[in-house]
Amino acid sequence: MCGIVGYVGGRGATDVLLGGLKRLEYRGYDSAGLALVEGQKLHILKGTGKVRDLEQSVYAQWDAGFRDGARMGIAHTRWATHGSPTAENAHPHTDQTGHLAMVHNGIIENYVALRTQLKAKGHMFASQTDSEVLIHLIGELYKGNLFEAVSAALKHVEGTYGIAVVSANEPDQMVVARKGSPLVIGLGENETIVASDVSAIIAHTRQVIFLDDDDVAVLTAQGADIRNLHNIPVSREVAQVDWDVGAAEKGGFEHFMLKEIFEQPEALENTLRGRLDEAMGTAILSGLSLSPRELAGIRRLVIVACGTSLNAGMVGKYYFEELADLPTEVEQAAEYRYRNPIIQPDDMVIAISQSGETADTLAAVREAKQRGALVVGLCNVVGSTIARETGRGVYLHAGPEIGVASTKAFTCQLAVLLMMALKIGRCRRLSRQRGSEICEEIRQIPALVRSVLKRNDEIIAVAGEYAKVRDFFFLGRGCMYPVALEGALKLKEISYIHAEGYHAAELKHGPIALLDDQVPVMALMNDLAGREKMVSNVQECRARNAPVVGVITEGDDSAAQHVNGVIHVPRCSRLTAPIPTVVALQLFAYHVARIRGCPIDQPRNLAKSVTVE
Ligand code: AGP
Ligand code: GLU
Repeated sequence: MCGIVGYVGGRGATDVLLGGLKRLEYRGYDSAGLALVEGQKLHILKGTGKVRDLEQSVYAQWDAGFRDGARMGIAHTRWATHGSPTAENAHPHTDQTGHLAMVHNGIIENYVALRTQLKAKGHMFASQTDSEVLIHLIGELYKGNLFEAVSAALKHVEGTYGIAVVSANEPDQMVVARKGSPLVIGLGENETIVASDVSAIIAHTRQVIFLDDDDVAVLTAQGADIRNLHNIPVSREVAQVDWDVGAAEKGGFEHFMLKEIFEQPEALENTLRGRLDEAMGTAILSGLSLSPRELAGIRRLVIVACGTSLNAGMVGKYYFEELADLPTEVEQAAEYRYRNPIIQPDDMVIAISQSGETADTLAAVREAKQRGALVVGLCNVVGSTIARETGRGVYLHAGPEIGVASTKAFTCQLAVLLMMALKIGRCRRLSRQRGSEICEEIRQIPALVRSVLKRNDEIIAVAGEYAKVRDFFFLGRGCMYPVALEGALKLKEISYIHAEGYHAAELKHGPIALLDDQVPVMALMNDLAGREKMVSNVQECRARNAPVVGVITEGDDSAAQHVNGVIHVPRCSRLTAPIPTVVALQLFAYHVARIRGCPIDQPRNLAKSVTVE
């Protein structure tokens, strides 16, 4: 779930491991630890708290000669799934002999059965984690060859794992393996680094190998020997990653989230680059690898996603229905495989995931593929599992998103969904002229976002007035309804204010009972088609004394008369309006959270990439 770093090479391992863990901190974690192998001895330090606490203990407890001398080690940031966040439950865990150590991301689902069997053989466990059971199993099967023991143990495991394992008896090599949790190997000069995320590697090398499920690799300073669980060598491409180290840093902003909000015009330009064909009135999305005929033949779309990506999918439904006349269902990915999802021959499934690693979305992709659906991925992280398993799709090109609260990925997802709807629409009944107009509207998106960002001060002022509230309602209609959901999600995850997104018309079917002068409402009044009805809904709220902030179109002064506070967004087409609108809501959530002093980039209880069910 969280972070792994491993190092074997010619330098001191400690600094590489601690530096790598710091690069992974953005993912959110509750405890951290590391293990060094030196002279046939294993040294472990771990505890709750931040990586800098771990670093301090390393400096306090391990002398410089040892710190610099150890040439191999593994390190971890944990996001607890089994057992509370305590020092005992922090990784690395060791086997029963204390000679083997392991860090693990993911969940061992059959750990209870395995633990019972191991206990019967005399194993004693020091933690409540599922992970410790796996390293004990590896220890049980260890006969002097770590690779063999790891491969043998993994055959008994159900669940997901990214692991790095070291043995005090084999001080020059470590064994890593993955299934369901990402692992990347960085190939340096006389050193090899492994991590759950490329950002922990790029300071050292840009040559990387993304491991696939069921890969087991032996890492030495000279490189990686990758095999499958049956000891058959497999070949994996060496990729060159182009992200510069600076791109993953805050670039002068107080938080990654704010940096990423302000990056959106450029991110959107990257998303759109080379993809709009005004003359033909369509979009060029070669990664879909589908002919116009195939696109014309699609009968139904099913979108699967979680969280913010799910909200993007709900906006996408409006796009596909409006531009492509395609019936579109949007499904919570977590439910998909627990029903009997009907897939018909001409259905297309679209999986949306910023990280490309979300466990529920990945499982939905696998289910849909198994049922014979054509599945396309809409991911940001290149080479991520969902991107690879779908094999076709559209990358967002939004750049690395570090803030746990997703911002630029959402707006780039909307831009891609709009282009997809345009492209499919053009293969069906959308005219070239209308297509060209839509291309022109899409081209305006970065400028629309810039104009919202210029209103940062206006949004700060409104945020200041509402930063102390306990509850918030976000109301919208039409494709502003999912934008309201996303605005509420942003506010709740980073400010811890209870926020609910609601369809404005649904309010009077129950939740209006909650409104009073302590419960403000954010009303999205800038969808021109639903404007009059939104004005009525705002009046309903005002009649219950609820303070209302109106998100209104610039120049729509009559809307401003109905509300207590105003956030302006630029006038634009209905199709593009969700994008500048959500940017205003992202800024609002950000400033409220900042004023409340919340840890914006690492909100409590959240992780960037949710790789467990
Ligand atoms: C967004 O702010 C979230 N923290 C979360 O809802 C996220 O969008 C969700 O976990 C899905 O992630 P994905 O896009 O990487 O699949
Ligand atoms: N399931 C393991 C635990 O709770 C691993 C969690 C993680 O991926 O950080 O310790």
